[in-house]
Amino acid sequence: QTVDMEKIVAFCKRRGFVYQSSEIYGGIRSSYDYGPLGVEMKRNIKEEWWRSMVYMRDDIVGLDSAIIMHPKVWEASGHVAGFNDMLVESRTSGRRYRADHLIEEATGLDVEGLSAEELTRIIQEDERIKDPVDGGRDFAPVRPFNLMFETYTGPVKSPENIAYLRPETAQGIFVNFKNVLQTSRVKVPFGIAQIGKSFRNEITPGNFIFRTREFEQMEMEFFVEPGTDEEWHEYWIEERFNWYLKLGLNPDNLRKREQTDEERAHYATRGVDIEYNFPFAGWSELEGIANRTDYDLRKHQEHSGANLTYTDQATGKSYIPYVVEPAVGPDRVMLAFLVDAYREEEVRGERRVVLKLHPRIAPVKAAIFPLTKKEPVAKVARQLYDDLKGEHRLFYDDSGSIGRRYRRQDEAGTPFCVTVDFDTLEDRQVTIRDRDTMEQERVPIEAVRERLKS
Ligand code: GAP
Repeated sequence: QTVDMEKIVAFCKRRGFVYQSSEIYGGIRSSYDYGPLGVEMKRNIKEEWWRSMVYMRDDIVGLDSAIIMHPKVWEASGHVAGFNDMLVESRTSGRRYRADHLIEEATGLDVEGLSAEELTRIIQEDERIKDPVDGGRDFAPVRPFNLMFETYTGPVKSPENIAYLRPETAQGIFVNFKNVLQTSRVKVPFGIAQIGKSFRNEITPGNFIFRTREFEQMEMEFFVEPGTDEEWHEYWIEERFNWYLKLGLNPDNLRKREQTDEERAHYATRGVDIEYNFPFAGWSELEGIANRTDYDLRKHQEHSGANLTYTDQATGKSYIPYVVEPAVGPDRVMLAFLVDAYREEEVRGERRVVLKLHPRIAPVKAAIFPLTKKEPVAKVARQLYDDLKGEHRLFYDDSGSIGRRYRRQDEAGTPFCVTVDFDTLEDRQVTIRDRDTMEQERVPIEAVRERLKS
């Protein structure tokens, strides 16, 4: 089954996963808000990442650094000079486009890595390249456009007060490398993990929550001894690939892809993307795993004057560590999980929409239904709900037929529905219904807690 984008967007709104931001004002392009189910799902993705990257490991610690950093950070990292996309403006429609996208779509040419002058020449000479809006062929020269959002700190809007919203969380980790070394008992090889917002003034955001100007990142910088970096890189590519498989993403829609020389970021010697085959966009990057070498720490040492070398107490060797970085956006991962899990099925002549999400990702873990709103059935159901609600996100629903209630939970991806009925009053048993098989089973009420936990 494939699902198109409009269907997913409408479904996300109808069920309270994702809304257009500022919708009552007509919306703002590329900004989205996560509704009651969406916020739970995105939190689950972040928590699963944190659990596997921090809690399950002895060699990784966490960090939460500021979004607004010293502007020199971005000079040292190369983002002020080099974090650009090539922008071209149509003089007929006034629209702005990414030059590489405009050329590639019209001609199929791969122009990644070409200079502004080279791109300008191609656009001027190749008659196939037209403004997609009005077919015009009058374009201003291509120019590099820096993707960092600028703001000012303090009341005076002067050049010396310019600050940037971080375009990656990674730099907050690099500038705290020394702090973490000195204040926790880490030894190379070790990692620092962080989850937080990043901002990029993308020229062409799009595909719903896939590419937005404000988004979250989950990044981990793993510091290793030079010479061991290639091995660690392989290790993290496998670890991260398996994370998606363990959470149930369809392996047929998941692959690894080596980044080309042209597309690789300025700091990396090798990059491998984990891609998902989106029905509306084809194979697209979910996560990048890069070998950043000692590029960032070395640059920060040069620019700040701080000593960022590491001395191995056991061997006496001193070096600037190399860095292997798995970097991923939870918004993008959420879209992949949604698309992957969405099904429309026929059940006894009726259509059901169901999200077959892994229970750890599902926004609500179980719904508790009293067969009737009346006492004492309702009281028993309420008691079960109250007993368990501090352990999982649960949902209590006593309105409509049980069939209707099942359908609502299927759409939300809730793995289990637990019904309290009249027999419960006699035998202290409840019915647990499985989302995927739709099978029902009677279990003692006391066994529900263990069942949900497992
Ligand atoms: N620190 C390395 C880095 O930032 P990146 O490939 O530019 O590398 C890493 O970004 C991940 O962040 C991407 O694989 C993607 O999942 C997510 N990401 C990047 N730009 C995004 C955007 N505009 N919207 C949503 N997610 C984005």
